Amino acid sequence: MSADAVLTVRQLRKEYPSPIRGAEPVIAVDGVDLDVHPGECLAIVGESGSGKTTVAKTIVGLEQATSGTIAVGGQARHAAPRRHRDRVRWAGEVQYVFQDPYSSLNPRQRIGTVIETSVAIHRPELRSDDRRRVVADLLDDVGLGGGYADRLPHELSGGQRQRVAIARALAANPRLVILDEAVAALDVSIQAQILNLLADIREQRPISYLFITHDLAVVNQIADRVAVMEQGRVVEEGTATEVLTQPAHEYTRSLIAAVPRSGWKPRRRSELAAIVHA
Ligand SMILES: Nc1ncnc2c1ncn2[C@@H]1O[C@H](COP(=O)(O)OP(=O)(O)OP(=O)(O)O)[C@@H](O)[C@H]1O
Ligand SMILES: [Mg+2]
Repeated sequence: MSADAVLTVRQLRKEYPSPIRGAEPVIAVDGVDLDVHPGECLAIVGESGSGKTTVAKTIVGLEQATSGTIAVGGQARHAAPRRHRDRVRWAGEVQYVFQDPYSSLNPRQRIGTVIETSVAIHRPELRSDDRRRVVADLLDDVGLGGGYADRLPHELSGGQRQRVAIARALAANPRLVILDEAVAALDVSIQAQILNLLADIREQRPISYLFITHDLAVVNQIADRVAVMEQGRVVEEGTATEVLTQPAHEYTRSLIAAVPRSGWKPRRRSELAAIVHA
């Protein structure tokens, strides 16, 4: 295991019982190795069903691995802890942002309360006025002014809700944020704004991302390295530029060929920003 990695995954395997009684189990993840280094964004790409979310869920403890090892900051993670205190510690290290924050935000909870709850869990030493100051700073960090604290989730756009989900994740001050198709439901211009926000956050904090997506254009904008998954395995890994411009594996070539745009070529974030703000 590399000692300085934020996340180390070795030979991770996850089997699910088959939905058909007596049939072979479904092997969702099959011997996956991954490393995420400090400050890095590693993208996992792959078609639907290739095992991306299962990898993420086992890292955060929402699923139990069948075999293999996971370590965060050099500390092995075994079965998800039962004790509240240990669960809080796990959540303080790795946060998970889902595709649709609407379903993960309580519709009756105001945005300020959503974030304040996370601050209260992860920084119990803060008094309530300090906590509120942290909430205001977090809203600011994700580009939402303090006026948003009193709003309910349905009063926000999809992009704004995703900003709230990011602020809630940052409230835990995690080493690693797993973003699972976190921009997939957004319009391309809003996607670019959220990707820019994530890039800015990474410049300001010691944070790493595990960025799960099926969209190679998004990979090109955010990731330093890419792991390509097919049927539960990592079939190719390299820098984003290498994998996107010189894919070694036939499957990766087919993923690139499947990008639904004629004459698609990788675009840098700066170029995209120029298009979006033109
Ligand atoms: N709880 C479960 N029970 C049984 N099989 C499951 C379960 N969760 C996932 N699977 C199976 O595991 C495989 C990997 O699923 P997973 O959700 O990890 O894929 P994914 O790459 O995230 O796909 P998508 O891009 O559609 O989100 C699939 O064959 C899926 O049907
Ligand atoms: Mg998934």
